[in-house]
Amino acid sequence: MAESSIEVSKQHQNRRRRLMRAMGRNSIAILPTAVISARNNDVEYPFRHNSDFYYLTGFEEPRAVMVLIPGRPEGEFILFCRERDPQMELWNGRRAGLEGAREIYGADVAYPIEALDEYLPALLENRDRIHYTLGSDPDFDRRISWWMKQAKRKSRAGVHVPAELVSLEHLVHEMRLFKDREEAALMRHAAQISAAAHSRAMMVCRPGMMEYQLEAELVHEFMSHGARSVAYSSIVGGGANACVLHYTSNDAMLRDGDLVLIDAGAEYRGYASDITRTFPVNGRFTEAQRELYDLVLEAQLAAIAKVKPGNCWNDPHDTAVRVLTKGMVELGLLKGDVSKLISEGEYRRFYMHRTGHWLGMDVHDVGEYMSGEQWRKLEPGMVLTIEPGIYVAAGSKGVAKRWWNIGIRIEDDVLVTRGGCEVLTRDVPKDADEIEALMASQRAA
Ligand code: GLY
Ligand code: MN
Ligand code: MN
Repeated sequence: MAESSIEVSKQHQNRRRRLMRAMGRNSIAILPTAVISARNNDVEYPFRHNSDFYYLTGFEEPRAVMVLIPGRPEGEFILFCRERDPQMELWNGRRAGLEGAREIYGADVAYPIEALDEYLPALLENRDRIHYTLGSDPDFDRRISWWMKQAKRKSRAGVHVPAELVSLEHLVHEMRLFKDREEAALMRHAAQISAAAHSRAMMVCRPGMMEYQLEAELVHEFMSHGARSVAYSSIVGGGANACVLHYTSNDAMLRDGDLVLIDAGAEYRGYASDITRTFPVNGRFTEAQRELYDLVLEAQLAAIAKVKPGNCWNDPHDTAVRVLTKGMVELGLLKGDVSKLISEGEYRRFYMHRTGHWLGMDVHDVGEYMSGEQWRKLEPGMVLTIEPGIYVAAGSKGVAKRWWNIGIRIEDDVLVTRGGCEVLTRDVPKDADEIEALMASQRAA
C-alpha cells in the first residue's frame, strides 16, 4: 500500500508540474472534488471523486479541494481535506488527514477543509489569473466570488486580485486526452475485466432468464476482479429492448429466438471500460440476425482499421457509415444510391448515433474532437470506442418483418499506438461463429 501510494504520488506530481507550467506565473488553480449526493433520507450514493481532481492528486476522499500556485515559496500544492478524527473514523472509515495529505499525496501544505474561507482570500491576493471551471457546482462558484470579494477589500492596502478567470478544464482535459503508460495499463486491465464479464454473460445466458440476472453476472465478474463500480449503468436489452439506445430497466425476460444486447463496462481504479456485445439468447443466430450482425461486425472492423495516427477523429465514423449503408442497401433495408443515402442522412433510420467517443476516467471522456474547424487528428495515447450498430424497431416502414426488433451494437475500446492501434477489449469474442462456439461449449458441459 505504502509503496504504490508513493508511486501514485510521483505520477500525480508530474501532472501537477505540467499543469503549473502551462498556467504560468502569478496564477492560481482551484479544484474541488465531487460533492456527496443524497440517495434518500440518510442514504448517500457511493462517493465518486471528480475525475480532474483525482487525475491531479490521486486523492479519493470526499470534501477536498486542491489549490495550485506555481512558484509560491511556501508551497505550490495546497490540499484542503478532512482532518483525522478517531470518532468519525470509527464509524465511517480511515482518513488520510493533514499528515497523510502531505506524506502520501505529496501536498506541500495541508489545511482542514473547514478552513477554506479563512485561507482562500489570502491565497488569491496578488495573483493575476485564476484557473477555475465555472458551472459544475453553483455553491462552490458562489464561494469563489465571496473569496474574491474578501480579497478585494484589501485593495487600498495595495493588494490586487485576479483580473482574469480561465477555465481550468481547458488545460486539464487536453492532458487527460493523452494516456501515459500507467494509465494505458489501468485501462487495459479494466478492459480485460469487462471482457471476462461479457464472456461470462454469453456462457450463462439461457432463454427464460431475466435481463437483470445477466446484469448480476456482469457485476459479479467486475467486483470479483477488484472493479468496485460500473463505469456507467449497464444496458441488458433482450429483443425489442435492444432498440432502446439507453435502456437500463433490465427487467424483462430473455426470450428464445431473440438477441440480447449488453453494453456494460467496469471502472477499475478510476478508469472506465465500455464494451457492447450482442448475441442470441439461445446460442444460435437466426438467418436474419446473422445477416445484420455480420454487417455490423464488418463496419466495426473497417472502422477499427482507420484508427491510426494521422487519420482524423471522424474517419472511423465515416467508414462505418459507408459500410453499413452499402450493406443495408444490399440487404434491402434501405433503397437508393449509397452516397445519396449518406449525404441525406437516410441511414440514420437504423444507425442514429455516432461511432464512438473518447474513453478514460470518464466513459464519455474529456478532450476536444475538433481542432479549429477540422476534425482532430488521432495521436498515440488517445483511447476511443468504436461502436457501430443497427436498430430496427418493430413496424419500421417498408422493412420486412424478419428484421423487426433486431438491435445490434458491437463496441470495443481502442488505444491509438505509434504503429496503429491496440484493441484493449479484444478478449471477448465478437465473430458470430466464435460466439456460437463459446455458448455451445457451455451447453454441452
Ligand atoms: N455505454 C455508453 C456508450 O457506449 O457510449
Ligand atoms: Mn461507448
Ligand atoms: Mn457502451
